[in-house]
Amino acid sequence: MLNTQFLNYTLTSPIMNASGVHCTTTEELQNLADSAAGAIVTKSATKHFRVGNPHPRYADLPLGSINSTGLANNGFDYYLDYVSSNNLEGAKPLFFSVAGMTFEENLYMLNKIQASSFTGITELNLSCPNLPGKPQIAYDFPLTEQILTKIFSFFTKPLGVKLPPYFDLVHFDQMAKILNQFPLAFINSINSIGNGLYVDTATETTVIKPKDGFGGIGGAYVKPTALANVNGFYQRLNPQIKIIGTGGVNSGQDVFEHLLCGAQIVQVGTALHREGPQIFSRLANELADLMEQKGYQSIEDFRGKIKTS
Ligand code: DHB
Repeated sequence: MLNTQFLNYTLTSPIMNASGVHCTTTEELQNLADSAAGAIVTKSATKHFRVGNPHPRYADLPLGSINSTGLANNGFDYYLDYVSSNNLEGAKPLFFSVAGMTFEENLYMLNKIQASSFTGITELNLSCPNLPGKPQIAYDFPLTEQILTKIFSFFTKPLGVKLPPYFDLVHFDQMAKILNQFPLAFINSINSIGNGLYVDTATETTVIKPKDGFGGIGGAYVKPTALANVNGFYQRLNPQIKIIGTGGVNSGQDVFEHLLCGAQIVQVGTALHREGPQIFSRLANELADLMEQKGYQSIEDFRGKIKTS
């Protein structure tokens, strides 16, 4: 019932982790492989190991989360070894997320992936909001176009981009026009809403330490923004560019809403952090129950079919 096509893969569930959550170590990745997740993405890699920002750098909030992890990761080679040594042919698709600290670092990693035996899918993260002094690439439209032009001059494996939320329809138009020029396999909308601030009134402090308490917001706070970005791009992108919907997913109903807005796959971040990998069977069961109540036999019966009231 929940079978979903993505590129040449058939996923048994459209639900997977969002990069950054439960995917930094090979042990965590193995937990995802053993779970009901339909696919797996790794923590965004940089060329070298990074310890990340000082703790506390993640906090659960009443309606979601705030984080400023600072790209803590085990380095490009660690993840390349993992994704190359796991022959998941016919099994769960594996997404390798990369987030270079510079243009050159992105090119370095993508060249290495191109030359490697990795046969999975690459996600280029253009939307990390948590590096002090570094703006998000995907808020700089000319730079985004320049990077994609350079990458597609040599990269021939399946590639998608992780995008931040946009808040103006003109920005959807402008970004879609850029993305439509390239043979992208997918976009992933949205990364966290960048640089929120959560205040603990009792102690009169921020709840995380890095960047004076500013951090990326996830969870229920961001769902309407995520659905708008999923559907905004679904309406604007060439149909070959699939959409991964991320943001505010904590129930089968949330997954359904992302699919209804046009998502091909749906990712879970904050709720996975809170609940652990057993969340994937809960969400799949809730989605299947909801589809049954509505009389849908497959996701294709309703994908992208959101109606205007
Ligand atoms: C981090 C956060 C992000 O939202 C992202 O896309 C990449 C890295 C981080 O703080 O580690």
